[in-house]
Amino acid sequence: MPWYDRRMGSSLTYTRKTTSPESTKQLAATLVPYLHEGDTIVLSGDLGAGKTQFVQGLALALGIRDAIVSPTFNILLAYQGTPDGLPLYHFDLYRLDDPEQLEDIGFYETIDGDSVSVIEWGEKFLDSMPYSYLDIAIARSQDEDNDRKITVRAIGDRARQLLHVWATDSKSRLMKA
Ligand SMILES: Nc1ncnc2c1ncn2[C@@H]1O[C@H](COP(=O)(O)OP(=O)(O)O)[C@@H](O)[C@H]1O
Ligand SMILES: [Mg+2]
Repeated sequence: MPWYDRRMGSSLTYTRKTTSPESTKQLAATLVPYLHEGDTIVLSGDLGAGKTQFVQGLALALGIRDAIVSPTFNILLAYQGTPDGLPLYHFDLYRLDDPEQLEDIGFYETIDGDSVSVIEWGEKFLDSMPYSYLDIAIARSQDEDNDRKITVRAIGDRARQLLHVWATDSKSRLMKA
């Protein structure tokens, strides 16, 4: 059984294909107008799938000008855009092996705070993920080098609401582009 199905309740799913790094960043940017403080995204995909590109798109739309890098050796990288904009916390839990270490790094306070959190390797600590989050998986295509399939699942009520407004809006906007 896939890990995201172990949660109670039904989940809402949305898939999109992107055909360039720019279109992945653009898709991420369309999510930003709907984000609230405390929103969490669990981001997964193989090395080179485009996770960092996705986070870069989110960051730019949040007004963050820093280059986004994979936080593997840092576990957590924090970014602040405009002074009154939402801060972005980018976690990579790959190097942690025990859920108790999440307390040591202040994981629970951080994801509950006045920020948006993106978590890579969150599937390692499923029981420690918040009640509600967007699960975004990026997969490379077998046929085309630059094609990616992006599957978004909403876990919990807040994420369902977020996915609903995002999917409705980004579909129409991306079709016009
Ligand atoms: N549709 C696409 N979406 C995202 N990245 C793409 C796409 N097509 C090609 N790429 C390339 O794939 C690589 C993705 O790298 P990166 O975002 O660092 O992956 P990850 O963080 O998942 O390891 C980049 O070199 C990017 O230019
Ligand atoms: Mg990366």
